[in-house]
Amino acid sequence: MTGRSDDDVTSRRDRTRPTIVTCPDGPILVRGDVQIVDDMGSIVPRRRTTVALCRCGASTIKPYCDGTHKAIGFSAP
Ligand code: FES
Repeated sequence: MTGRSDDDVTSRRDRTRPTIVTCPDGPILVRGDVQIVDDMGSIVPRRRTTVALCRCGASTIKPYCDGTHKAIGFSAP
């Protein structure tokens, strides 16, 4: 038998299903198969399945988080 089991299909779907989670006092974590598009409509290159988007506005590598939120004391639920 060479077919995929229901568990294989479900597992793959769970890995690619998009999820968005806010981190307390930090970035927004985006997981899954989604495109990130900038304000000009261009697709932002992405090399990882999970990326952290800046929520504080101070990152030097926007739209991604570079950890600056800690240095500036960003606070958000
Ligand atoms: S949220 Fe991390 S640098 Fe802005």
